Amino acid sequence: MKFAIIAAMHEECVCFRTQLNSPNSESYLNMQVNEAKWYDHEVVLIESGIGKVNATLAAQHAIDHYKVDHIINTGSAGGIVEGAEIGDFVIADRVCHHDIDISPIGFEFGELPKLPVYYETDKTICQSLINLCHSMKHTVHSGTIATGDTFVYQHQQLNSISTRFNGVIACEMEAAAVAQVCHLFQKPFTMIRNLSDIAGEHAPINFQSYINQAGQESSQLVLDFIKQLQKA
Ligand code: ADE
Repeated sequence: MKFAIIAAMHEECVCFRTQLNSPNSESYLNMQVNEAKWYDHEVVLIESGIGKVNATLAAQHAIDHYKVDHIINTGSAGGIVEGAEIGDFVIADRVCHHDIDISPIGFEFGELPKLPVYYETDKTICQSLINLCHSMKHTVHSGTIATGDTFVYQHQQLNSISTRFNGVIACEMEAAAVAQVCHLFQKPFTMIRNLSDIAGEHAPINFQSYINQAGQESSQLVLDFIKQLQKA
């Protein structure tokens, strides 16, 4: 299989680059792209930059140029589900755009014409990732992950996300954009992240303290996952 791994920030990519043996490197727009073999599979790592537009460009490039079979979006996230702690893993069974609102002209929150509110992730890979987390004794939450072009830390933001969307466990800034591209190109999509903070008043300071840890944990898990995956 050929996987694209899309992560937004340098801190979320360093561990991949250290472990992927002599990856080929190119730059595309503002992004660093590394191509490598990882056990039985090929991987294309794209450091997309933060936010939905950057993530969209990265996903389209992975599909158009690298012809990948599957896209994994990874890195850090802010926890929302009750009981979540920094360092826990979150795996999306579906993702949504929490900052899309054309409800005044008759659409649901998060909905755009001809597109769903919720983008489903690949069920088989999602379940295998959950199993891998359990076998490694990691705490893992699975559910809806909400994406928007904004760092979530204020009560008002949290309130609007949880009243508009059901079962949101975490927030971040790229996944739904990648999922939307995958939906349009009919490519399977998976999202696993590690919590750098709990979305709330301490999120900005905790994000800065834990982004390296979240980057390292999430990339190690993705590499372990691809390593143990049977050759397709
Ligand atoms: N990524 C990590 N933490 C986040 C937060 N609190 N809001 C948005 N994206 C995040």
